[in-house]
Amino acid sequence: MGDKNLNEGLGLDRAAINAMRRSYGEAGLSESDIASEPITQFQIWLKAATENSVIVEANAMVLSTVSVAVPTSRTVLLKDVTQEGFTFFTNYNSRKSNAIEENPNVSLLFPWFAMERQVIVLGKAERISEIDSATYFATRPWSSQIGAWASSQSQKLESRAELEKNWEKYSLLYPEGSNVPKPPHWGGFLVRPVSIEFWQGRYSRLHDRLRFTRDAGTQNWELQRLYP
Ligand SMILES: Cc1cc2nc3c(=O)[nH]c(=O)nc-3n(C[C@H](O)[C@H](O)[C@H](O)COP(=O)(O)O)c2cc1C
Repeated sequence: MGDKNLNEGLGLDRAAINAMRRSYGEAGLSESDIASEPITQFQIWLKAATENSVIVEANAMVLSTVSVAVPTSRTVLLKDVTQEGFTFFTNYNSRKSNAIEENPNVSLLFPWFAMERQVIVLGKAERISEIDSATYFATRPWSSQIGAWASSQSQKLESRAELEKNWEKYSLLYPEGSNVPKPPHWGGFLVRPVSIEFWQGRYSRLHDRLRFTRDAGTQNWELQRLYP
């Protein structure tokens, strides 16, 4: 298992990793507390996570995609949540975007460990309109706008110097203060949820798991409790 000597040098032998465990608190999540539909419940938890000083980047979520059969995960930032779904922005030529083209079914996981909480969204991702992407792009800081032009996200890069050279090139083309157009290869995805699960850690590993699933016919949300 791993590099034994290196792990021991760091005080991280197998027993030390094995011993990492926390007892979870009493604060539960019950059918009577949870909102009647999951987007409102999500917004309540997102706000609480934002106000928790221990949680950094409360809007960071782990996006998992499946390209044909291979799953991959990475973190992206949630930039909007409405009754329609969850929006994030990225490079449309990236590995994740290629996976979404092949298979739009994705998972979003919000790891709010400091609050003993996790939210998992399953849904279908679709591109948002060019206009909506351009509107959001215009609100980004100039250096991030130039970064979007400079990066062929997920492609092989020979050296960091090459990336910095690209950034320099676009910073001259679109100097600070000028209107930087949205690159054609950059934009948002909306994930329309089909299920949203709220997990709250409890004592003795008797955690609360409440999952909303959208009925394909009526579009109503149905709530179920799951074994932890
Ligand atoms: C906290 C955090 C936030 C991130 N936010 C984004 C994001 O909003 N959009 C994005 O494309 N990549 C974001 N990244 C980088 C991705 O995790 C990933 O490295 C990149 O998108 C390439 O992924 P891919 O090659 O699987 O497409 C973020 C990384 C971290 C650690």
